[in-house]
Amino acid sequence: MPRVVRFCEVPGFKRHVFVCTNERPEGHPKGSCKARGGVEVRDELKLQLKTIGLSKTIRANNAGCLDQCEQGVTVVVYPEQVWYGHVTVADLPEIVEKHLVGGEAVERLMLPDQPHLNGQRSFGKIEK
Ligand code: FES
Repeated sequence: MPRVVRFCEVPGFKRHVFVCTNERPEGHPKGSCKARGGVEVRDELKLQLKTIGLSKTIRANNAGCLDQCEQGVTVVVYPEQVWYGHVTVADLPEIVEKHLVGGEAVERLMLPDQPHLNGQRSFGKIEK
């Protein structure tokens, strides 16, 4: 008998973070986020979320190419859809505390041209 999944059983992530880990062959003109450290960024982000007890509330996932290859490791945060570029492992404590928990975008890492945000930088805190 098939299991019936009710809506309340679906994990309720408050934020969902996609980290590009796309790989291209060495020498490809576009390069790739994997070659620039995307896998390390994803792994460290998952670890930091787990360490602060929010891995069930804020989900971090792999993404394929997000079509921002010239922007270094690319990360996008939903539901607000804030895009970050040139993200390194060293940037993660700030992204986690300021944006993912605190709800304030990290302006210095934001990709330019995000008109869908209408200048909004504040998206609401998540309680730890
Ligand atoms: S390879 Fe990461 S955005 Fe294209």
